Parts: sequence; structure tokens; C-alpha cells
Amino acid sequence: MSTFNIAILDGDGIGPEVIKQGIKVLDKVGARFGHTFNYTYAPVGAIAIDQTGNPLPDETLDLCKASDAIFFGAIGHPRFDNDPTAKVRPEQGLLRLRKELGLFANLRPVAGYKELTHLSPLRPERMEGVDMLIVRELTGGIYFGDKGRLNDGDTAYDTCTYHRFEIERIVKMGFEAAGNRRGKLTLVDKANVMESSRLWREVTREMAGDYPDVELNFMFVDNAAMQLILNPAQFDVIVTSNMFGDILSDASSVLAGSLGLLPSSSVGAKVGMFEPIHGSWPEGAGQDRANPVATILSAAMMLDHLGLVKEGDAIRSAVNTVLESGSGTEDLHPGNKVGTDGMGDLIVGKI
Ligand code: IPM
Ligand code: MG
Repeated sequence: MSTFNIAILDGDGIGPEVIKQGIKVLDKVGARFGHTFNYTYAPVGAIAIDQTGNPLPDETLDLCKASDAIFFGAIGHPRFDNDPTAKVRPEQGLLRLRKELGLFANLRPVAGYKELTHLSPLRPERMEGVDMLIVRELTGGIYFGDKGRLNDGDTAYDTCTYHRFEIERIVKMGFEAAGNRRGKLTLVDKANVMESSRLWREVTREMAGDYPDVELNFMFVDNAAMQLILNPAQFDVIVTSNMFGDILSDASSVLAGSLGLLPSSSVGAKVGMFEPIHGSWPEGAGQDRANPVATILSAAMMLDHLGLVKEGDAIRSAVNTVLESGSGTEDLHPGNKVGTDGMGDLIVGKI
């Protein structure tokens, strides 16, 4: 019997409506297993810019620091995307949140669902056995390195910097995750070109001795992009830098058939953050069309992180049961669809 304080940063677009389903599911889990979840809402992203001029207001950051976990919807709005002169962007809120909270590890599991193989862009036989975890470094590299314009304004630069300690802590997570899974770790980098990648290899090779049960291999990122499409089942755990992880996780996220299925967690410090991989889909907002499964599975990852593993399993098995039954939002079942809210209810009904 425990009580948890959850910061709700539901954000922009479809964020609020998918988070609402996640909360319904958490409340059902609470009722069944005897836990209390207290929710406090705070703005982030475009909506926070509209309200305060700041994509991550201080009150939001303070709330996050004081909570047991952060449940995050989505951020982003097209009015910022095509405006290179915009000084404030919703994304800055997310990046600052990761940095300030020390969330250096982003875990993105990708697995296929048997009953949805027909939705995958890959042939069914290529999806057989796909079950991987992408461990992405989240607070360093080119995202946070020195960037700017030189005097004439016509030259711009972004630098990719990694210190040994940043590499060690994320690679350690990769080894440990692999040890708990199928024992295979792939470091994805560009060591044939980049010095920072060569440091990643050096450090990772040094650490390998501590994990004799994990088979380590290295792969260049361009080849990895190709292998994820040709033979995704070969991967168990991939560990990689911030930007390579950003790109490869989006590519892998569609293998399962819909971006709307995949959860993620960002961890590394006391408070973890849990969010669907998909974005804010502003065109679909408020229409009861978005798939809440990614968000609901992110709630399950949150429970795992809070030490409530059987509760997390209850959510995962409810999701599986509903997907197996052939019900789903329009991305899964164009002909026989349920809405966002209806999908949430179906999953709640199986817990
Ligand atoms: C992600 C997103 C973010 C990133 C954006 C919104 C800044 O693409 O979480 O993958 O690039 O990290
Ligand atoms: Mg991304």
C-alpha cells in the first residue's frame, strides 16, 4: 500500500487526451493493488509558451523535482517548426527538462505484436522474433554541445562532445539491460569518422571485461540503419549516442506497425520521466482518434521504475489481451476502430 506523487506534463496536441487514458489505467491499477496516485498538472511545450513565454516554467521544473515520477504527453506545434527565427521553441522545454533532471538514459523498447504483423512495413518473416531495446544517451553529444553562428552569420556549427563519464554510465546501462535480456549488446557509432565515437569504442571495450556473459559487437550507424530494416531480429540491446539514438529509434518505432504502440522511459537520476515515443500530432488533437497504447505502456514502465513490477505486468497483459481481441484505434484497425477513450476503457476493463 503506497502513495505516489506524479507530475503530469501532458503538453501539446494529442498529449492531454492520451495522458487521460494513462491516468484512467493507473487509477484502475491503484484500486486493484491498493496504491494511491496523486496527480499534479503543469504546463510544458507550446502551451507553456502561450501561457508564460517559457516552454519549461520554473514551477513546472520544481514540481518535477519534487515528484516521484513524471508522466509526459507530447510537445510541439507546427507554428514553430517552419520558423527558423523563432527564439523560443517547445522542444527546448523537453531538452532542458532532461538536462536539469539528469535523465541521461532513454530506453525505447521495440517489439512486434503477432496479430499486427500485417501492419508492419516489413514482410512478416522479417518481423519474426523482433524484440529489442534501444538505449539512447540523452543529455550529451551534439544536442548539448557548443553551437552557434560565426560572425558573418553564414557559417553555423554544432559540436559533439562526450566525456568518458557520460559514456561509462550509459554503456553500463546497456550492458546491464543486455544481461537481463538475451545477452547481446551492440554499440552503434561512427568510429570510422568521428573522434567521439572512437572514445565510445575505447571505453566500451574496456568495460566489456566486467560483463563476461554479454556478447559485445560494434556497428557503424549507417549500417545499423540498414540492418534495422533488413534483419531487425538480430538486435537485442543497442546502445548509442544522443542523435544516432534519436534517428534509429524513430526508424525502429514503425517496425511494429504503428508509432502509437511504443513507450519510453528517461531515467538516470531519482525522478524518471515516462512518455510515448510519438509526437503531438496537432491535426489529430481533440478528435478522439489518437492511439493511447504507447502512453499506457509508458505508465507500465513508470510502475516498473517505482518498483511496482507486477502492477506494470498487469497493464502489459491487459494491452496484449485487447490487441489480441482485434480491437484498436484507426491506426490499427481502420475498418473496426474504437476511439482514444474507448481504447482506454477496453484496457481498463482487462485490469
Ligand atoms: C525525441 C524527440 C526530441 C529529440 C525532440 C522533440 C527534441 O524527437 O524525444 O526523440 O530529438 O530528442
Ligand atoms: Mg526523436
